[in-house]
Order: sequence, then C-alpha cells, then structure tokens
Amino acid sequence: MSRRRQIYEGKAKILYEGPEPGTLIQYFKDDATAFNAQKKGTISGKGVLNNRISEHIFTLLANIGVPTHFIKRLNMREQLIRQVEIIPLEVIVRNVAAGGLATRLGLEEGLQLPRTLIEYTLKDDALGDPMVSEEHIACFGWASQEEMHDIADMAIRVNDFMCGMFAAIGIRLVDFKLEFGRIWDGDFARVILADEISPDNCRLWDMTTNEKLDKDRFRRDLGGEVEAYQEVARRLGLMPEGVDNDVLDLDSHRKKRGK
Ligand code: C5P
Repeated sequence: MSRRRQIYEGKAKILYEGPEPGTLIQYFKDDATAFNAQKKGTISGKGVLNNRISEHIFTLLANIGVPTHFIKRLNMREQLIRQVEIIPLEVIVRNVAAGGLATRLGLEEGLQLPRTLIEYTLKDDALGDPMVSEEHIACFGWASQEEMHDIADMAIRVNDFMCGMFAAIGIRLVDFKLEFGRIWDGDFARVILADEISPDNCRLWDMTTNEKLDKDRFRRDLGGEVEAYQEVARRLGLMPEGVDNDVLDLDSHRKKRGK
C-alpha cells in the first residue's frame, strides 16, 4: 500500500494512482481544516465515516442518473474513482442562509432563502477561494458555457435529491459544496460530479432542534464532531444499532474525550 504513487494530497484526502489507467484511489484522512486551513485539527474516525457517507450518496445519485467519479468503495478509508480533470471551481448550493452568505449579506442564520442559490468560488487556496461570477468563469475560460449549464443543472438535481433524502431522516440540508471534473473521450469532454459529499462539505441541521450535524461543530469549537458525523451515518442507515465502534477507529477519540 505505502509504495503506491501519491498523485495529490489535499486537506482531507489523498489521491493515489489507481489499478487501471484512468482510475485513482481516494483516501479519506481524519484531518480537519477550516477558514482556509488557518484552523487545523484531527477528528478521529471522520475519514471512515465520510468514505461511507459519500459512497452512499454518490451511489444514490448515480441511480437517479447523475454521473459521478465514484466506482466502488475499496475499504474503510478508500474508494476507487475515475480520474478527472478537475474544474477549478467550488460550486456552493444554498437553501438556508448560513456561514459565509449570512456574514457577507448580514442575514440571520437560519433564514429560508426564497429560492435555491448557487454560488461559485475559484478553487485557489493561496487566494482564499474567492467568489467569482459566471462572467469571470467565461472570461478566464475556467469552464465553457455548456459546462456551466451542465454544472448548474446537476447541482440543482443533487440539491433536490439530497433535500428529500435528508428531510426523510429529520435533517435540514442548509448548504453544501460540490466539485466537478471533466472526462475526455477524444476531443469531447463530459462533466461529472467529483470529490465527496459528507458532513465535511454540507451544513446539516437537525430539523427539530437545529443541532448542527456537520463540520461547523469543528469550525465553531462546539465539540462532539465525530458523534455528529456518526449520527448522520446512523440516520442514513449506515451504522446499524450496536455497531462495533472499533470498526470506525473511534477508540482514540473516546480515550481523548475521557469516555
Ligand atoms: O463557508 P460557506 O458558508 O461559504 O460554506 C458553504 C458550504 O460549502 C458549507 O456547507 C461548507 O461546508 C461548504 N464549503 C466547503 N469547502 C469550502 C467552502 C465551503 O465544503 N472550501
């Protein structure tokens, strides 16, 4: 395993060369960062949970016809994915005002937006992922008009599906971030959904208590991060009652928290 060629290391994941050309292995770390990596930490067991949650959501999305890079989960922390040319945009879909939007426009957190809002930021850590408009995207050629059409269309489909999926388990999908990539077939490129969908890149609030079940627990020092991620996995039916927590590598976390 350790001799595999590493292609890229990000804040929460590592990409290794895959077994076949055009494939990669995506490894989910326990590392957590926030505020453009100014805050760093570890959430023991997070990688295992995100791998499983993301597998589940990407599989369901593929079932409704959203093309994704996911091929199969390989083990607790790794999944086999299709290699894509990443489009350098973060696509943020919002249903409820929170986080950056609430701060930027002085909105009260929790305000239901009159319509779903899609925002784009440039994927560039050095610049702090600045927000960009479709005019910037066209001007600098980060994606074509046709690709932007496909991206917005998929983002809305993903949002509609996930709003329903989470509502059914008592969770409000406040907002989330998607990334897309190109797959080349000769001269023709197709856009597919890439990266991951997990409590690391979604805001998920309990519908009755508004309890945060996502990375805001880490960003805002609320504690109970892994328990929140576990709760999402449990409600999605991914952690049957009585699951052996050793399986989720949670022991070290428990010891740290003195349980
Ligand atoms: O911080 P902000 O309110 O803009 O985040 C909107 C959504 O996008 C949140 O769900 C957050 O988790 C996600 N996001 C992300 N990665 C980023 C920025 C935002 O996953 N770099």
